[in-house]
Amino acid sequence: MANNGPFRGRTIAVVNDLSRDEQLYLYKKTAELKKKYLAGEDCSDFQLNDPDCAAYLMFLENSTRTKESFRNAALFHNVRMNNFDASTSSFKKAESFADTVKMLFGYSKNSLFIMRTPEEGVCRALEEELAVYAEKLGREKPGFINGGDGKHEHPTQEFLDEFSFLEQKNWDSHSIHIVLTGDLYHGRTVHSKVDGLKIFDQVKVDLIAPPELALPESYEGRMIRNGFKVRKFRSIEEYLTQDDVADIWYFTRLQLERMGDKILDKAESLRESVTFQERFMDKLPKGSRFYHPLPRHREHPVIPSFLDKTVLNGWDEQSINGFYTRIVEIAMVGGKIGHDFTGAPPREESVRDDYIEAVPVTRKSRVQDRYKVGIKPVDEGIVIDHIASGEDIGEIWDRINRIRQILGLNYRSSHGVFHTSDSSKYKGIISLPDILELEQKDIKMLAAVSPGCTLNFIKDQSVLEKFRLHMPPRIYNFDEISCKNEICISHPQNHQHVGTMFTREGESFVCHYCQKKYTFKEIWNR
Ligand code: CP
Repeated sequence: MANNGPFRGRTIAVVNDLSRDEQLYLYKKTAELKKKYLAGEDCSDFQLNDPDCAAYLMFLENSTRTKESFRNAALFHNVRMNNFDASTSSFKKAESFADTVKMLFGYSKNSLFIMRTPEEGVCRALEEELAVYAEKLGREKPGFINGGDGKHEHPTQEFLDEFSFLEQKNWDSHSIHIVLTGDLYHGRTVHSKVDGLKIFDQVKVDLIAPPELALPESYEGRMIRNGFKVRKFRSIEEYLTQDDVADIWYFTRLQLERMGDKILDKAESLRESVTFQERFMDKLPKGSRFYHPLPRHREHPVIPSFLDKTVLNGWDEQSINGFYTRIVEIAMVGGKIGHDFTGAPPREESVRDDYIEAVPVTRKSRVQDRYKVGIKPVDEGIVIDHIASGEDIGEIWDRINRIRQILGLNYRSSHGVFHTSDSSKYKGIISLPDILELEQKDIKMLAAVSPGCTLNFIKDQSVLEKFRLHMPPRIYNFDEISCKNEICISHPQNHQHVGTMFTREGESFVCHYCQKKYTFKEIWNR
């Protein structure tokens, strides 16, 4: 078996863990494998054939296709296939994911974990935890493949979907016009489309769902930012009153098990708006094809069974494609293939610690001149100025209190709310006489709590140095922040000991694990 390649040991937690070029490579290799396999030719150039390698199937939610296609793919590879039975495991004794996986990792030379979990962001958290653990042991880190996490993502379903669309389009990746319909709110296979459809140069997406099942705004916003043309309709009936109808339709089932009672009461009417009916047939463009990640509800399928034997049926072949794409995914992360890959890797997140900006000290820096109202003039020490400048007074006090609490400023000191140079606006000031320096971690916390404030170092009643603090690109491991998504692996109530981490994206903060987006105020615990 090969021991390297650009994909070896990689984790696929979200679609973007493979770059566009890498996804196209996966589809090209899958087409090669499928052709050989169906022709009964030798496929050993795809095969890991390594009994020292263990593939663990850890499915904590029900599955047929994902689990069975991965199980058969692992058998194809002739690796040790372990079907981890969560229902009779020590998970039932409240064992953490990390403890469980570390132990399994110790049982083989190379391991790959394929996971389906109700919690979101599990593969990302385990990838990071196990990388540290493996390094400590001097071993190669294991890879993780996300087989669906909560309502977050289902990247390997996305890869088989896109492969199926490309097959249908005879490998033309110039453009796609696609309907996404069904439960767009809970459907992780739909959420993964936001990134997976980027393999097409031009993307037109028609979203069909009643408001209760609509795609969350954050995903719709990302589609628009990706350059997709997005239109929205409340029902298939409404959609078909206009002429610009897509030829690729992607249906998803209503995830009633994830819905509250209020929505369940409306299940019948919601289902009707996203269920295809015979009378719609003549509205479809020639060559149309329907897809569905499956399973279909046997009593209330959104693609009714009368369509099974028609040319619209793309979903049966789509589900079979899961076997081929997953063989190739294992071949890639197992290092068997990839040596001929020449494209671009995923874009490295550039995280620059650029949150401290030196500000020139002006002539008007005499402390007596600057901090005379209510704040004791500081001979020597630190003044934190421009706290929440321009915000309303309540917010400024709130911010001052938070800074004092988080930085533990239990010193002889003073603070208050004052006018800015514009007398219609206010700002907060904290004065810390005799404090001569702050630790870097405290400066970072201060930048996170009160971006825009200035840090003034005073000596002999003059400002010696002045820095403006900006929001850090990443905020993590403060006790005072947490992801508010209860099914995120980092949510404190899940007790998985995964530290909180947010990445700044423009004005928003995105959870590193479940990718839920927050405003600055929302990340703080009240
Ligand atoms: N499409 C899909 O994930 O199916 P399973 O739930 O059967 O794995």
